[in-house]
Amino acid sequence: MKTLMAANWKMFKTRREAADCARELETRLEKLPADREAVLFAPFTALAACAEALGPGPRLRLGGQNCYPATEGAFTGEISPAMLLDCGCSHVLVGHSERRAILGESDEFIGKKCAFALNAGLDVTLCIGETLAERDGGMLRPVLDRQLAEALSGVPDDMPAERLCVAYEPVWAIGTGRVAGPAEIIETHALIRAFLRKRFASGKDEMRILYGGSVKPENTAEIISLDNVNGVLVGGASLRAESFGAVALAGLPA
Ligand code: 13P
Repeated sequence: MKTLMAANWKMFKTRREAADCARELETRLEKLPADREAVLFAPFTALAACAEALGPGPRLRLGGQNCYPATEGAFTGEISPAMLLDCGCSHVLVGHSERRAILGESDEFIGKKCAFALNAGLDVTLCIGETLAERDGGMLRPVLDRQLAEALSGVPDDMPAERLCVAYEPVWAIGTGRVAGPAEIIETHALIRAFLRKRFASGKDEMRILYGGSVKPENTAEIISLDNVNGVLVGGASLRAESFGAVALAGLPA
């Protein structure tokens, strides 16, 4: 299983800024070893510029930060998986907590997107995670189980495990500088792994579970060394090529 180092640029960067940063990242990722992969979730408006800057067959793969579960139609403001594929994407992010909280996305809608995007040919990174109130209220497991059950409800058992990643992003650790501690990450990732083993007859042990929330170059090596952590999803620290390059190469001999 390859460790997945993923950048989520959220709503940052013009086309020029994005293309320059993607080009510099691609150069830094020349040192990326064969057992790691890197994906960049860029804003829709910058995807084509990034694809052009990266050129053919780049190490850094491209993804959209969202998609709508339909091929085309009267869905003003939305983007289809086919449009993402057309912009050079191979991946899409689904269910980010900012979309759940700010845009009111439901578990059911996120489930539709997951199944549709996979079927359309995009690899999916599904984000899940609890709020601080939910964790403090003893609701960690029920919340994650509900998010996973709904999001994966349309995913067939024969779907190759490497096409879907689950990104655990505790809402209280996103953009706050407060990283979940190693014990919290190990405990939560074990819960997610147990859910996946039960949910899929084939076990899907090759399905990657990423951690996200205040990941930085300084804490990445430790985080990816933990049990059932198969990569990271990085927000703030992915906005500069130097910093995301350091995350992607963390823990490797200089
Ligand atoms: P930060 O790395 O800025 O905490 O963001 C995490 C995140 O939401 C990635 O999707």
